[in-house]
Amino acid sequence: MRAPQVFIETFGCQMNEYDTEVVRSILKARGYGFTDSADSADVVLLNTCAIREKAHNKVYGHLGLLKPLKEERGLVIGVLGCMAQNLKKDLLASDALIDVLVGPDSYRALPDLLEKAAAGRKGLAVDLSEYETYADIVPDRIEGVTAWIAVMRGCDNFCTFCVVPYTRGRERSRDLISVVREAEALAASGCKQVTLLGQNVNSYRDGVHDFADLLGAVADIRGIERVRFTSPHPKDFPDKLLEAAAGHPKICEHIHLPLQAGNDRILQLMNRTYTRAEYLALVARIRRRCPDIVLTTDIIAGFCSETEAEFAETYDLVEQVGYHSAYIFKYSERKNTIAARKFPDDVPDAVKAERVSRLVELQRGMSLNKNRALIGKTVEVLVEGDGKYADQWKARTDGNIVTVFPKTGHSIKPGSLVPVRITDATVTTLYAHPA
Ligand code: SAH
Ligand code: SF4
Ligand code: F3S
Repeated sequence: MRAPQVFIETFGCQMNEYDTEVVRSILKARGYGFTDSADSADVVLLNTCAIREKAHNKVYGHLGLLKPLKEERGLVIGVLGCMAQNLKKDLLASDALIDVLVGPDSYRALPDLLEKAAAGRKGLAVDLSEYETYADIVPDRIEGVTAWIAVMRGCDNFCTFCVVPYTRGRERSRDLISVVREAEALAASGCKQVTLLGQNVNSYRDGVHDFADLLGAVADIRGIERVRFTSPHPKDFPDKLLEAAAGHPKICEHIHLPLQAGNDRILQLMNRTYTRAEYLALVARIRRRCPDIVLTTDIIAGFCSETEAEFAETYDLVEQVGYHSAYIFKYSERKNTIAARKFPDDVPDAVKAERVSRLVELQRGMSLNKNRALIGKTVEVLVEGDGKYADQWKARTDGNIVTVFPKTGHSIKPGSLVPVRITDATVTTLYAHPA
């Protein structure tokens, strides 16, 4: 009998990308095959994100597209991930298309649920676990130069706007040794860069080691040339981590340091547990130790009751820090969060949009200037693969800036670390020539 073919579509963050690889591994072990389109699939799984309204709408849109396929040939449809966890039975009840609903801590139950669904029985598994880390599962990755490794799961920070503590449950870390083994296996298969993932990597603890220990241990692995991590929370960035990052040549000079807002009242309403002054002091401390560090951030504009004067403080802080790039979001109220229960979502949508566009404008100007300042410099980049055109390589600098350069000569291939000279720059991309 032909193995049932599964098509998985992934939405949301890198943690979800990683989880899709875990799900592939679990399904492969049970005899499932994979296909890259819904048209040739027996099972379609959507690994969903719940972080903002837009993320939800995207999933509903994709479900709509699957309707004719389901009617035509009884496709099994599963919704996985954060939206499944957040909406639970509501989603199963409200949408006749969905057969299976599985939250981020329940993927081991997926094969059994899919078998039942093929026999016509709907099912769900949405229990959150205090222990599940999938540490024993080797993710089924598309082999390449870069890979993610989830080193911890869940989040205990309860920022008032955020749904993640509810969709991914309590914080838990994997043992250092299981992460190191996974990275060693990746190095052996030709991977050059690993990115260690967690909602707040500074909370990583395996009983013996902290995150600085883990970062150092992974960077020491032969064959791994670059180590990245995301995200650290600004409330607890220890000197030990800064030393590890600054002192080890393989740990990249890039820190993603989510700001969210630059006004103290809003930061407090968000439960971020740091002040504007503390954040700025942290940036100064990081820059004293690593003057060339690339800093990036996340910002939310139009959080509950944010005034124009308070927003102006966020704008001012963004300008003061001079990030290399930033993800800027409109506040989007999420069901079940503390903000949704306690504070009215009272900034009009048009005002949120206008604040976002002012920040985007400011950031674009700064990104362009920072990229332009690199013109004429020679930097080392890691080649990831083809660029948009087949005669170009796409690579990244140590600071994570996308760099494109022409294919000349034959010695360069994906995984090569090569010096290039920057010749031109846009807001998002550097253009270069082999040096
Ligand atoms: N754990 C990470 C954040 C993960 S979510 C951290 O704390 O760094 C990624 C980003 O989405 C957040 O940094 C925040 O800027 C944004 N975000 C989260 N909830 C949001 C909401 N309700 N509305 C708008 N943006 C949100
Ligand atoms: Fe959400 Fe805050 Fe946890 Fe990040 S630290 S995942 S923003 S609750
Ligand atoms: Fe990631 Fe979205 Fe869940 S950002 S943790 S997939 S809500």
